[in-house]
Amino acid sequence: MLNIALPKGRLGERVYGLLKNAGFPCPDLEAGGRRLIFENPALGLRYFWVKPMDVGVYVERGAADVGIVGKDILLESTPQVYELLDLGLGKCTMAVAAPRGFRNPTGTTLRVATKFPEIAARYYAGQSRDIDIIHLNGAIELAPLMGLSHVIVDIVETGETLRENGLEVLDRVAPISARLIANTASMKFETTRIQELLQGLEKQVNAR
Ligand code: PRP
Repeated sequence: MLNIALPKGRLGERVYGLLKNAGFPCPDLEAGGRRLIFENPALGLRYFWVKPMDVGVYVERGAADVGIVGKDILLESTPQVYELLDLGLGKCTMAVAAPRGFRNPTGTTLRVATKFPEIAARYYAGQSRDIDIIHLNGAIELAPLMGLSHVIVDIVETGETLRENGLEVLDRVAPISARLIANTASMKFETTRIQELLQGLEKQVNAR
Protein backbone atom coordinates (compact mmCIF):
# COMPACT_ATOMS: atom_id res chain seq x y z
CA MET A 1 0.00 0.00 0.00
CA LEU A 2 1.15 3.51 -0.78
CA ASN A 3 0.08 5.65 2.16
CA ILE A 4 -0.84 9.25 1.37
CA ALA A 5 -1.49 11.84 4.09
CA LEU A 6 -3.89 14.58 3.04
CA PRO A 7 -4.36 17.77 5.07
CA LYS A 8 -7.91 17.86 6.39
CA GLY A 9 -9.88 20.76 4.92
CA ARG A 10 -10.45 22.59 1.69
CA LEU A 11 -6.83 22.41 0.56
CA GLY A 12 -6.84 18.64 1.06
CA GLU A 13 -9.94 18.28 -1.08
CA ARG A 14 -8.37 20.26 -3.92
CA VAL A 15 -5.18 18.25 -3.63
CA TYR A 16 -7.13 14.99 -3.79
CA GLY A 17 -8.58 16.23 -7.10
CA LEU A 18 -5.03 16.59 -8.45
CA LEU A 19 -4.01 13.16 -7.17
CA LYS A 20 -7.08 11.59 -8.73
CA ASN A 21 -6.24 13.16 -12.10
CA ALA A 22 -2.68 11.95 -11.66
CA GLY A 23 -3.98 8.36 -11.76
CA PHE A 24 -4.41 7.86 -7.99
CA PRO A 25 -8.20 7.80 -7.52
CA CYS A 26 -10.01 6.52 -4.44
CA PRO A 27 -13.80 6.42 -4.98
CA ASP A 28 -14.51 5.67 -1.29
CA LEU A 29 -12.94 8.95 -0.25
CA GLU A 30 -15.28 10.92 -2.48
CA ALA A 31 -18.31 9.70 -0.51
CA GLY A 32 -17.30 12.05 2.32
CA GLY A 33 -18.41 11.40 5.90
CA ARG A 34 -16.31 11.25 9.02
CA ARG A 35 -14.08 8.32 8.24
CA LEU A 36 -10.39 9.10 8.26
CA ILE A 37 -8.91 6.26 6.20
CA PHE A 38 -9.87 5.29 2.65
CA GLU A 39 -8.43 2.54 0.49
CA ASN A 40 -8.32 1.62 -3.14
CA PRO A 41 -7.10 -2.00 -2.93
CA ALA A 42 -7.02 -2.42 -6.71
CA LEU A 43 -4.40 0.32 -6.97
CA GLY A 44 -2.73 -0.44 -3.62
CA LEU A 45 -3.55 3.02 -2.32
CA ARG A 46 -4.46 4.27 1.13
CA TYR A 47 -5.42 7.88 1.80
CA PHE A 48 -5.92 9.37 5.23
CA TRP A 49 -6.94 12.78 6.56
CA VAL A 50 -4.51 14.41 8.97
CA LYS A 51 -4.53 17.75 10.78
CA PRO A 52 -2.40 19.95 8.48
CA MET A 53 0.13 20.58 11.27
CA ASP A 54 0.67 16.79 11.63
CA VAL A 55 1.29 15.79 8.00
CA GLY A 56 5.07 16.23 8.38
CA VAL A 57 5.10 14.01 11.47
CA TYR A 58 3.35 11.15 9.65
CA VAL A 59 5.66 11.44 6.66
CA GLU A 60 8.89 11.87 8.64
CA ARG A 61 8.15 8.75 10.68
CA GLY A 62 7.05 6.69 7.68
CA ALA A 63 3.41 6.26 8.70
CA ALA A 64 2.76 8.00 5.38
CA ASP A 65 4.95 7.57 2.29
CA VAL A 66 3.95 10.93 0.92
CA GLY A 67 1.86 13.86 2.08
CA ILE A 68 0.78 17.35 1.19
CA VAL A 69 1.59 20.15 3.58
CA GLY A 70 1.86 23.94 3.64
CA LYS A 71 5.33 25.45 3.41
CA ASP A 72 4.52 27.39 6.61
CA ILE A 73 4.33 24.11 8.50
CA LEU A 74 7.53 22.81 6.90
CA LEU A 75 9.36 25.99 7.89
CA GLU A 76 7.99 25.83 11.42
CA SER A 77 8.55 22.17 12.26
CA THR A 78 11.37 21.32 9.76
CA PRO A 79 10.59 17.57 9.46
CA GLN A 80 13.31 15.41 7.89
CA VAL A 81 11.50 14.67 4.61
CA TYR A 82 12.06 15.27 0.92
CA GLU A 83 10.19 18.25 -0.51
CA LEU A 84 9.32 17.12 -4.04
CA LEU A 85 6.99 19.68 -5.58
CA ASP A 86 5.39 23.08 -5.12
CA LEU A 87 1.73 22.49 -5.98
CA GLY A 88 1.08 26.22 -6.30
CA LEU A 89 -2.10 25.92 -4.22
CA GLY A 90 -2.91 27.78 -1.02
CA LYS A 91 -0.57 30.62 -1.95
CA CYS A 92 0.05 33.22 0.75
CA THR A 93 2.91 35.01 2.50
CA MET A 94 4.50 34.67 5.91
CA ALA A 95 4.89 38.27 6.97
CA VAL A 96 5.76 40.58 9.82
CA ALA A 97 2.94 43.06 10.44
CA ALA A 98 2.16 45.83 12.89
CA PRO A 99 -0.39 48.59 13.48
CA ARG A 100 -0.19 51.25 10.75
CA GLY A 101 2.45 53.87 11.53
CA PHE A 102 4.31 51.51 13.88
CA ARG A 103 7.81 52.51 14.98
CA ASN A 104 10.35 50.07 16.39
CA PRO A 105 10.47 50.53 20.16
CA THR A 106 13.89 51.52 21.49
CA GLY A 107 15.23 50.41 24.84
CA THR A 108 12.78 47.53 25.15
CA THR A 109 12.63 43.99 23.82
CA LEU A 110 10.39 43.63 20.78
CA ARG A 111 7.35 41.50 21.64
CA VAL A 112 6.28 39.28 18.74
CA ALA A 113 2.99 37.37 18.73
CA THR A 114 2.76 34.38 16.41
CA LYS A 115 1.49 30.88 15.73
CA PHE A 116 4.93 30.18 14.24
CA PRO A 117 7.54 30.68 17.00
CA GLU A 118 10.40 28.92 15.15
CA ILE A 119 9.90 30.96 11.99
CA ALA A 120 9.75 34.16 14.02
CA ALA A 121 12.83 33.22 16.06
CA ARG A 122 14.87 32.46 12.92
CA TYR A 123 13.75 35.63 11.19
CA TYR A 124 14.78 37.89 14.08
CA ALA A 125 17.98 35.91 14.75
CA GLY A 126 18.89 36.72 11.14
CA GLN A 127 18.48 40.37 12.04
CA SER A 128 20.38 39.96 15.34
CA ARG A 129 17.37 41.33 17.14
CA ASP A 130 16.42 40.19 20.66
CA ILE A 131 12.75 39.39 20.88
CA ASP A 132 10.17 38.02 23.25
CA ILE A 133 7.99 35.50 21.43
CA ILE A 134 4.37 35.20 22.49
CA HIS A 135 3.00 31.93 21.15
CA LEU A 136 -0.71 32.21 20.34
CA ASN A 137 -3.08 29.83 18.58
CA GLY A 138 -5.05 32.13 16.31
CA ALA A 139 -6.54 35.57 15.70
CA ILE A 140 -2.94 36.81 15.97
CA GLU A 141 -3.92 40.25 14.65
CA LEU A 142 -5.57 40.97 17.97
CA ALA A 143 -2.31 40.87 19.94
CA PRO A 144 -0.82 44.26 18.95
CA LEU A 145 -4.25 45.90 19.09
CA MET A 146 -4.63 44.87 22.73
CA GLY A 147 -1.03 45.75 23.67
CA LEU A 148 0.01 42.12 24.09
CA SER A 149 2.71 42.41 21.42
CA HIS A 150 4.38 45.08 19.28
CA VAL A 151 4.27 43.11 16.04
CA ILE A 152 3.03 39.79 14.66
CA VAL A 153 4.49 37.14 12.39
CA ASP A 154 1.59 35.55 10.55
CA ILE A 155 0.15 34.38 7.29
CA VAL A 156 -1.28 37.01 4.95
CA GLU A 157 -3.44 35.82 2.12
CA THR A 158 -5.70 38.56 0.77
CA GLY A 159 -4.52 41.11 3.36
CA GLU A 160 -8.12 41.71 4.37
CA THR A 161 -7.68 40.73 8.03
CA LEU A 162 -4.77 43.16 8.37
CA ARG A 163 -6.63 45.99 6.62
CA GLU A 164 -9.81 45.58 8.62
CA ASN A 165 -7.83 45.68 11.84
CA GLY A 166 -5.61 48.66 11.00
CA LEU A 167 -2.42 46.66 10.53
CA GLU A 168 0.10 46.63 7.68
CA VAL A 169 2.89 44.40 6.42
CA LEU A 170 6.38 45.51 7.55
CA ASP A 171 8.35 42.74 5.87
CA ARG A 172 7.82 39.52 3.93
CA VAL A 173 9.44 36.50 5.54
CA ALA A 174 8.66 33.74 3.02
CA PRO A 175 6.25 32.81 0.22
CA ILE A 176 3.96 29.94 1.25
CA SER A 177 2.11 27.28 -0.76
CA ALA A 178 1.26 23.58 -0.59
CA ARG A 179 4.14 21.14 -1.09
CA LEU A 180 4.34 17.43 -1.86
CA ILE A 181 6.67 15.74 0.62
CA ALA A 182 7.98 12.18 0.85
CA ASN A 183 9.48 9.93 3.49
CA THR A 184 13.21 9.37 2.88
CA ALA A 185 13.03 5.54 3.03
CA SER A 186 9.88 5.45 0.86
CA MET A 187 11.80 7.31 -1.82
CA LYS A 188 14.10 4.28 -1.99
CA PHE A 189 11.52 1.50 -1.76
CA GLU A 190 8.55 3.07 -3.54
CA THR A 191 10.54 5.03 -6.10
CA THR A 192 8.49 4.06 -9.15
CA ARG A 193 5.09 4.89 -7.71
CA ILE A 194 6.24 8.11 -6.08
CA GLN A 195 7.85 9.21 -9.35
CA GLU A 196 4.62 8.37 -11.18
CA LEU A 197 2.62 10.41 -8.68
CA LEU A 198 5.11 13.29 -8.88
CA GLN A 199 5.01 13.37 -12.69
CA GLY A 200 1.20 13.23 -12.73
CA LEU A 201 1.07 16.22 -10.39
CA GLU A 202 3.81 18.13 -12.20
CA LYS A 203 1.93 17.84 -15.47
CA GLN A 204 -1.15 19.49 -13.94
CA VAL A 205 0.85 22.18 -12.16
CA ASN A 206 2.73 23.06 -15.36
CA ALA A 207 -0.50 23.11 -17.40
CA ARG A 208 -2.00 25.87 -15.22
C1 PRP B 1 -5.17 33.15 8.75
C2 PRP B 1 -4.07 34.07 9.19
C3 PRP B 1 -4.72 35.42 9.15
C4 PRP B 1 -5.70 35.29 7.99
C5 PRP B 1 -5.11 35.94 6.78
O1 PRP B 1 -5.97 32.88 9.84
O2 PRP B 1 -3.59 33.73 10.47
O3 PRP B 1 -5.40 35.69 10.34
O4 PRP B 1 -5.88 33.90 7.75
O5 PRP B 1 -5.99 35.91 5.67
P1 PRP B 1 -6.31 37.22 4.85
O6 PRP B 1 -5.02 37.91 4.53
O7 PRP B 1 -6.98 36.69 3.61
O8 PRP B 1 -7.22 38.08 5.64
P2 PRP B 1 -7.01 31.69 9.88
O9 PRP B 1 -8.22 32.03 9.10
O10 PRP B 1 -6.33 30.43 9.48
O11 PRP B 1 -7.43 31.61 11.40
P3 PRP B 1 -6.66 31.92 12.76
O12 PRP B 1 -6.77 33.38 12.99
O13 PRP B 1 -7.39 31.11 13.76
O14 PRP B 1 -5.23 31.49 12.59
